[in-house]
Amino acid sequence: MRSQHGSRLHPRLDDDLRHLPELLEATRAYAVRILRGLDERPVAGTPAPSAPSALPERGAGLAGAMETFARRWEPGFSGSAGPRYLGFVTGGATPAALAGDWLTGTLDQNPTSALDSGAQDLERETLAWLRELFGLSEEHSGIFVSGATMSNVTGLAIAREWLGEQRGVSVAEEGAAALGPVRVLSGSPHSSVGKALSMLGLGRAALRQVDVLPGREAVDVARLADELAALDGRPAIVVANAGTVNTVDFDDLRAIAELRERYPFWMHVDAAFGAFAALSPEHAHLVDGLAEADSVCVDLHKWLNVPYDGAVQFTRRRDLQARVFRNAAAYLGPLGETPDFIHLTPENSRRLRALPAWFTLAAYGREGHAEIVRRDIAMAARLGELVDAMPAYRLLAPVRLNVVCFTLAAAPERVGELAAAIAASGEAFLTPTVYDGLPALRAAFSNWRTTDADVRRVAEVLEAFRP
Ligand SMILES: Cc1ncc(COP(=O)(O)O)c(C=O)c1O
Repeated sequence: MRSQHGSRLHPRLDDDLRHLPELLEATRAYAVRILRGLDERPVAGTPAPSAPSALPERGAGLAGAMETFARRWEPGFSGSAGPRYLGFVTGGATPAALAGDWLTGTLDQNPTSALDSGAQDLERETLAWLRELFGLSEEHSGIFVSGATMSNVTGLAIAREWLGEQRGVSVAEEGAAALGPVRVLSGSPHSSVGKALSMLGLGRAALRQVDVLPGREAVDVARLADELAALDGRPAIVVANAGTVNTVDFDDLRAIAELRERYPFWMHVDAAFGAFAALSPEHAHLVDGLAEADSVCVDLHKWLNVPYDGAVQFTRRRDLQARVFRNAAAYLGPLGETPDFIHLTPENSRRLRALPAWFTLAAYGREGHAEIVRRDIAMAARLGELVDAMPAYRLLAPVRLNVVCFTLAAAPERVGELAAAIAASGEAFLTPTVYDGLPALRAAFSNWRTTDADVRRVAEVLEAFRP
């Protein structure tokens, strides 16, 4: 086939273009084999590193590339899309989310500008659905980012601009130095908050950890009030936490929001996966007050079960957001009343991240996603009961939502060894942590596939591998 300029396509490309339907059919069949094998696939593993091969000169064509990938790489990949991968907080991909993801690549849209496509409106629709799902207010406008870390960065960048507004400077124009020292208060902040403060020029040292309630990871609101009072009227940022990684504890969001009547601060809520508590009537109280937040972070590749990567960021101050991320250029069109996404996030170009989320919400709705959330919560509670009944183990916190945090009753120092043995078995994957000074294990449930049978298998592994 001739290209537009009359020159020939590279023979491999030409061949692949002519055989595109069969090649995509083969890719589909390969993906189906992978998905059918998820249950038997080792959940995790650390294969010996494969020596890098030389850059292909001529290339092998799609079929050749797929053959090499299937032989050299795929067998060493984890079963993180599967039901017994309980490390970190990791979702899978629902069938509709996966289809949406394939079509994202197929259509290859860059939705940050509205000059050429209606893709932005699909993102807006999806954001409105998500806003409703999490019980946020109509005043919250959202955007898609790559993950909760980027959502925290974006929310805190808006908070930084708000601090400037309070002090009569624009950080976007004058730089973070114009602000002077900044205080960021939080009880049990996720590690990504320190990273965000470093990236934003506020510095990790700006973060002050406020005392938490006894035996909890939730902030002591009275101590938070003391810290705010000590600022003598200087505006601050409070990072409230809705779902901590170790024990899934929740700050009292409503009580924190009420402190704004007495002290000036920006309330950012990291609800990376905790926001999904809103989908379970028995747990929705945990996120009561979320709608009061000035900015909110929610991950989608965790409990919405869309493939990596996807998260959302909501704020009440879109004007400040546009001030921070404005990307003015004659060829990009005006900022206007409803700025294009290019003016609202760190990225200028990106994939149509909303599509997998749109597909899964369109396919399963609020009810389907609430069922996933409720089942994962029930599975965590069940594993919690089983662990509690095993003398070798000790729960370190009540199972509040979807994470079981426990240790070895007699030998906590051997938790690392245990985690490695479980991973090597291929049966399950749990991540080690340190909680309250003790080495511990976390089993985090956020995959749509996980059932009772998986919980039983995880419990059997724990029983089999206890030292
Ligand atoms: C509470 C919280 N915030 C932020 C993050 C960072 O998320 P990501 O890895 O998607 O950037 C996580 C990840 O586990 C989290 O649990």
